[in-house]
Amino acid sequence: MVTVTQNHYCDGYSLRLQQLYPSNPEATVSLAPSSDQRLYQQLADSFAEAIHEGTLKPGKRLPAIRRVAQSHQVSVNTVLNAWQLLEDRGLIEARPQSGYYVRGVLPAVTRHGEHKTRVRDPGSGKLDLIDKVFAAQNHPDYINISLACPQDSELFPATRIARITASLLRRHPNLIGRYALPPGSERLREEIARRALHAGQRLTADEITLTHGCMEALQLALRAVTQPGDCVGLESPTYFFLFPLLASLGLKALEIPTDPQHGLSLDALEMLLQEQRIKALIAMPGVQNPLGCGMSLANKKRLAKLVNTYHVPLIEDGLYDELQFDWPLSPAVKAFDRDGWVIYCTSFTKTVAPDFRIGWTAAGRFHDAIARLKAVSSMAESALLSETLAEFLASGGYDHHLRTLRRRYAANLDEARGLIARYFPQGTRATLPRGGFVFWVELPGNVKTTEMFDRLLQEQICVTPGALYSLSERYNHALRLSCCYPFDARYSRAIQRAGEIACELSGLPAGEAQGVPLRPQTV
Ligand SMILES: Cc1ncc(COP(=O)(O)O)c(C=O)c1O
Repeated sequence: MVTVTQNHYCDGYSLRLQQLYPSNPEATVSLAPSSDQRLYQQLADSFAEAIHEGTLKPGKRLPAIRRVAQSHQVSVNTVLNAWQLLEDRGLIEARPQSGYYVRGVLPAVTRHGEHKTRVRDPGSGKLDLIDKVFAAQNHPDYINISLACPQDSELFPATRIARITASLLRRHPNLIGRYALPPGSERLREEIARRALHAGQRLTADEITLTHGCMEALQLALRAVTQPGDCVGLESPTYFFLFPLLASLGLKALEIPTDPQHGLSLDALEMLLQEQRIKALIAMPGVQNPLGCGMSLANKKRLAKLVNTYHVPLIEDGLYDELQFDWPLSPAVKAFDRDGWVIYCTSFTKTVAPDFRIGWTAAGRFHDAIARLKAVSSMAESALLSETLAEFLASGGYDHHLRTLRRRYAANLDEARGLIARYFPQGTRATLPRGGFVFWVELPGNVKTTEMFDRLLQEQICVTPGALYSLSERYNHALRLSCCYPFDARYSRAIQRAGEIACELSGLPAGEAQGVPLRPQTV
């Protein structure tokens, strides 16, 4: 272990030591050669963090490579590799005969303007657009910068899963001849309970219901706690498939202001709870889709307290929780659930095997109701798939796999944001996600992103227009992009084309067109 004091970084900078690494009161950065993350990646990550936090400002010159090497007791090559990685992520740039400089970063999306909390009928308003997006996402020839799932087995542990499945079938051929009955694989539920501790949840296997993806978990939760005609609180913007889900159950929606960086407004929520305007709440406090933001620990605790005080169930969608970039993971709201009013829902579709469609819920006081609904809804999850997943989780490779995914997605997000800053109109804003791989982009100049969507479809490029993420027209100028795909020339070209069309529609020049830094200042 090499421990290096951070003031070495700061020599020659006006930045103070604590400013550069505010999260580390000891002001030390540890490079651990034994960790599976290479030294140059660790070095790059710590500089990336300082850039994102704004402690290393756009336009700042990085310290000389030899000095960084000396102060970190690493080779010059290690620093060069780290700088190369930061350059690939679009965070720094080399200037001839001058050194490396921090590039600008995209302005953050700011709090959305006045927000009227109106009860709306999810009806069929957005269904046509959803169908159109799904059709494009499903098309094998389209370039997908939209679907929130890496359609590429390279990012999933396909080889290991195949080996485990084959071995299980060889050893237990009767697995596929067995009628899976509720509550489903005990071994998988035990493994899930063991893993849930990472997110601060103390659960037993008996408190877990296996579901067909997170979608079924959300549906069962809503069915358990609402009646047709009830009103459900949602974040705004929110995961677009919640609207047809509510519509299918005869429920109404009330969209609650959600800060693009800090998540659901708890002040607004508290008012609604006091006025008894919602029967349940669906939120993504860990990593929000589509914003990518996450709530602070203090807010998570306050949210748990609010729903326990007002006895309104929180359906916590934790689908992207394991992909949070911070380690250790920030606990789920469920970890602070005093009396069982939080129904935690998630799945392995984003991290292990989308096709397995295995999810789960820990439903607190609603456990029995949900377990019964699950049985009449789809009986139980496949034994073969459940045992395969259990074996994969038990065999110890999952955490390593998650670390790889987090690194890949964080780097992809940086690269995609860099391209947006370069090719999208000046004044474009984007969120900086806390985890996962989706982010939110807001365009200037009255651009209608459904128009962009139609134009890009003609070139076989699929994006997701902001209009999908609300029943209002509030986000007609926004897009959600996904960067879970291998970041190749095709993908970069698709973002470039999206930017060119946005410039055309807005009548504004691209970010780099007027000699501004490639990435304008962070707000
Ligand atoms: C926030 C959120 N919740 C739920 C789902 C559905 O998850 P699953 O595929 O596990 O049913 C998705 C899918 O993209 C999602 O983004």
